[in-house]
Amino acid sequence: MAHRYLVEFHPKHTPHVFTDILVIGAGIAGLRAALEASADLDVLVVTKDSIQQSNSTYAQGGIAGVLSPEDRFENHIEDTLAAGGGLCDRAIVELVVREAPQQIADLIRFGTQFDVEENEVGEPFSRSSESRAGLRPAAKLALGREGGHSHRRIVHALGDATGFEVMRAIITRAREAANVTIWDDTFTLDLLTHEGACVGVVAHRPNQGKFLIWAKQTILASGGAGMVYRETTNPPVATGDGMAAAYRAGAILRDMEFMQFHPTVLYVAGSSRFLISEAVRGEGAYLLDKHLHRFMLDVDPRAELAPRDVVAQAIIRAMERTKHPNVYLDLRHLDKTLVRRRFPGIDKVCRGFGLDITSDLIPIRPGAHYMIGGVATDAEGRTSLPGLWAAGEVTSSGLHGANRLASNSLLEGLVFGAACARGAVKSAARMPNRYAAIPLTSKLEPDGAGTLDVADITNSLRSVMVRHMGIIRDCAGLEEAQHDVAFWCRYVLARTFTDRPGWELQNLLTIARLMIHAALTRAESRGVHFRADFPTRDDATSQRHFECPPSAELFDAK
Ligand code: SIN
Repeated sequence: MAHRYLVEFHPKHTPHVFTDILVIGAGIAGLRAALEASADLDVLVVTKDSIQQSNSTYAQGGIAGVLSPEDRFENHIEDTLAAGGGLCDRAIVELVVREAPQQIADLIRFGTQFDVEENEVGEPFSRSSESRAGLRPAAKLALGREGGHSHRRIVHALGDATGFEVMRAIITRAREAANVTIWDDTFTLDLLTHEGACVGVVAHRPNQGKFLIWAKQTILASGGAGMVYRETTNPPVATGDGMAAAYRAGAILRDMEFMQFHPTVLYVAGSSRFLISEAVRGEGAYLLDKHLHRFMLDVDPRAELAPRDVVAQAIIRAMERTKHPNVYLDLRHLDKTLVRRRFPGIDKVCRGFGLDITSDLIPIRPGAHYMIGGVATDAEGRTSLPGLWAAGEVTSSGLHGANRLASNSLLEGLVFGAACARGAVKSAARMPNRYAAIPLTSKLEPDGAGTLDVADITNSLRSVMVRHMGIIRDCAGLEEAQHDVAFWCRYVLARTFTDRPGWELQNLLTIARLMIHAALTRAESRGVHFRADFPTRDDATSQRHFECPPSAELFDAK
């Protein structure tokens, strides 16, 4: 049986911490929320690793926003809706797109140095004083293009290390903020619930053990779950802990079948599945199969700049057709100086494997990249569980539909991070200023079993997900995956672990079980979810979100 809480605790024997606002996760959504909320209240941010370890830091491409006079909000809205396969919430798309320029201006105000247009000798054009002050971010910002975007509208930094620069600035700002406390190495085990509301979390620090954090309002910004796959662009921290904790606490999760695969991940032994940014195709790179055929021309009039679901599926088919484990990115026809200046990080990593991106073909294949499904939220970032707000990849906000448009994810984190904070501050301000622990306890039966090889099960899970829950799915494969994962869940979720690898495995299994169930339920193909046995989109029955069944139905059923 799956437990409500992963660990035992008793308020008498566990230290307590109190805060107005608790933020779980220190990626872009979490820190944006912390900065917004700290203007009014005390904020505690907890993150399970070092503060630099989040998907946000590894983002390469950039942040989408309508900043060019040739572009219009309507274009960005239509591009997002078109990519989303009929499942985006238009009101949410409009809200996010219209707020993008202000969020980008705020990042500049926080100290982010976005790339600016350069003259022919590679020097930045001088910026106007307004632009320097961050008041008119459109002034001379360099704007990139990515798949599914009809216009150049992606702001980027350090060429291809946007996340690194944005996070540098926002981390510095958060560390300086008087009302923000940041605790790293703090693993959130579970959300505490009392009388149907979230009242804080039970957390663990390696040197302190378990403790309870009581919060007036809690903001979940714990990111995605790419580690559920063996091949992923995500760092090892992306184990779906926040999604799994929200599920155990009874919050509504939905659309878990929609895991987005990034089309172009470096495929060289030892490369840890390094992402090759979509911006590379935005600058004109081609995709070639083993026979050097530019196959995207046969698939979509937008060729390499079709949305990600289209490109990733075409790559898989090209690999199958040519019986080859990868395809190739070709930048050889592009200006060599521009390529090196625009993509210094990719250039460096490829050089480390003896590949010159200006003269060699780059072997790539798709890899799990971004979890579109997650905790359902409304336009203010409110979840179905009172007291709990959520922002960023952990959520299903309605922005991405069934396929996320490139560079809309950092943007979503910014918009909803700030929105959650505003809502949470308002709700916290209405609450009595009492700081008292609630007599909540968790008692677990001793599991009585011997040791488990956690790494072995984790590896098996990640392989099964690649095999049967990848880009192309069918009923037989999904049922096999369901059988294996349900079997592992039965004995792993019933145990009590005392350290991070065990808790992460429990969370990964929980997420995998939800994903496979959702993929079996959606008997159609839409966006990133392609069923070989139901290859067409079925708007009559399936143009809707699918919520996850409650835990008792899925995990405790015989
Ligand atoms: C990329 O640089 O291709 C990743 C950007 C994104 O996932 O939106």
